[in-house]
Amino acid sequence: MADHFLFLVARLLLLHVMQQTVNCKQPHILFIVADDYGFNDIGYHGSEIRTPTLDKLASEGVRLENYYVQPICTPTRSQLLSGRYQIHTGLQHGIIWPEQPNGLPLDSPTIADKLKESGYSTHAVGKWHLGFYKKDYLPTSRGFDTYFGYLTGSEDYYTHYRCNGEPYDHSFCGFDLRNNTEPCSTEKGHYSTHMFTKRVVDIVSSHDGSKPLFVYLPFQAVHSPLQVPDEYIEPYKFIKNNNRRKYAGMVAAMDEAIANITKAFKAKGIWDDTLLIFTTDNGGQILSGGNNWPLRGWKASLWEGGVRAVGFAHGNMLQKKKRVSKALMHVTDWFPTLVNLAGGSLNGTKPLDGFDQWDALSAGGPSSRREILHNIDPLKKPSGESLYNNTFNTAVRAAIRVDSWKLITGDPGNSSWIPPPSDEVMEVIEIPTKKTKNVWLFNIDLDPNEKMGVSHDYPHVVKALLTRLAQLNATAVPARYPKGDPRSNPALRGGFWGPWM
Ligand SMILES: *[C@@H]1O[C@H](CO)[C@@H](O)[C@H](O)[C@H]1NC(C)=O
Ligand SMILES: *[C@@H]1O[C@H](CO)[C@@H](O)[C@H](O)[C@H]1NC(C)=O
Ligand SMILES: *[C@@H]1O[C@H](CO)[C@@H](O)[C@H](O)[C@H]1NC(C)=O
Ligand SMILES: *[C@@H]1O[C@H](CO)[C@@H](O)[C@H](O)[C@H]1NC(C)=O
Ligand SMILES: *[C@@H]1O[C@H](CO)[C@@H](O)[C@H](O)[C@H]1NC(C)=O
Ligand SMILES: *[C@@H]1O[C@H](CO)[C@@H](O)[C@H](O)[C@H]1NC(C)=O
Repeated sequence: MADHFLFLVARLLLLHVMQQTVNCKQPHILFIVADDYGFNDIGYHGSEIRTPTLDKLASEGVRLENYYVQPICTPTRSQLLSGRYQIHTGLQHGIIWPEQPNGLPLDSPTIADKLKESGYSTHAVGKWHLGFYKKDYLPTSRGFDTYFGYLTGSEDYYTHYRCNGEPYDHSFCGFDLRNNTEPCSTEKGHYSTHMFTKRVVDIVSSHDGSKPLFVYLPFQAVHSPLQVPDEYIEPYKFIKNNNRRKYAGMVAAMDEAIANITKAFKAKGIWDDTLLIFTTDNGGQILSGGNNWPLRGWKASLWEGGVRAVGFAHGNMLQKKKRVSKALMHVTDWFPTLVNLAGGSLNGTKPLDGFDQWDALSAGGPSSRREILHNIDPLKKPSGESLYNNTFNTAVRAAIRVDSWKLITGDPGNSSWIPPPSDEVMEVIEIPTKKTKNVWLFNIDLDPNEKMGVSHDYPHVVKALLTRLAQLNATAVPARYPKGDPRSNPALRGGFWGPWM
């Protein structure tokens, strides 16, 4: 009897140890962000733009079809890297312009800090856009062992040169490419999609196989300016709209880049242990060739065309593959999901707004969130009058999703539907609304294209969501949107954008 008991205990212990080894296997993580990549710009959404690599990876993995990001660049990246809403980091309003002394606050670790703490070798390749006015804000101070890329956005794809833009004049111009902390001038003439791909391939092939690898690859593609080597445009002669045709070529180059990168992981023998996440940072910019049909609005708006994202996961560690997930997910969720998956600890972070979604992502379980705060922007010009007293001021730009309900207040941004431009002319479908209208309610499950506002039919839902917005607003920190600093001028630092304080 005693022997039998000991045998059982030993077996249980052995099982436990085996399970631990399985659980403790830390996957390599390849996290790819496309820039301004629209809902209607990927093959599997029926686009005329072909994306064979992305389509194949998505079909083998888990396609996310109820997945949200933020309407513009810096906000999405800030939430991805911190796991926290913009209202909690002060980045509620706009992007970080190159002249602005601003950045993702240093008071909470980034996802790279946490993965590095769990033993990962961490690399960032591509567009940062989370602040650089002090060295402390550079990627290599935010958890990345190495960095190669742009600190800001909208560079020339070949010269890597950019001038400051709105809201400033264009008088400050400089190169924007950095190798770790140092300006890099040897890469002029290299198209960024190729340049970043080569860097990732180098990282993968020289990787020390005993450590898990985290590669964060925020491509410059497919953001404007519309630039791409001619060979990629060649197959798209049938697209008559100039912008759309060039944009299609840029997407083709990105798709090829991802094929090359997966090959490098396979050649290294680590692809089977790699989790790939692909996401856009916001909706497509229709003025630069992107398209979000049939969704309403686009980049920079709070309509679905601004925030409903293209995204998928691929990897052997996903339990149920080859499927579409309708679980509600948000870009803040990657932080706890991936840190937990890596066996890391979430200690030391400020309160996270993301949820661990591994069960939903991997096993098809229910989403661990019912709500997404799309944003509250206290600095956006108010629109119309506040409709209700003693609750959230409806003149303020904000949006929230709870279950299938979505409420938008204030100025939502451009409200049109734009079919893919098949010709030189871009068709715009607008519903005329009063300038002062500032409350919209939709049931997104029934009406994903936001055609039928139902705020008058469900006033109690409107009031409940306004109350919830007011509660969330009470947790917000003040928005930081500092004036440009003349000391940022690249002319003062050898012609490169870089830290000035
Ligand atoms: C970046 O720096 C590393 C180490 O300092 C060096 O080996 C590499 O060649 C540099 N890459 C570029 C593109 O300058
Ligand atoms: C992919 O690899 C091929 C073969 O080496 C190369 O010709 C091509 O330029 C690469 N594409 C990108 C986007 O890096
Ligand atoms: C979190 O936990 C890890 C591992 O237990 C430890 O190394 C690290 O110092 C902790 N971080 C903080 C901020 O407490
Ligand atoms: C809100 O309060 C103001 C000032 O007390 C009042 O004039 C207005 O009628 C109220 N509006 C609503 C919708 O209750
Ligand atoms: C959000 O909270 C701030 C600070 O309490 C307050 O000044 C502001 O009016 C609130 N915004 C809205 C839209 O209710
Ligand atoms: C929305 O954008 C389209 C395309 O640029 C433009 O034609 C339309 O006038 C814009 N609508 C508003 C209300 O600004």
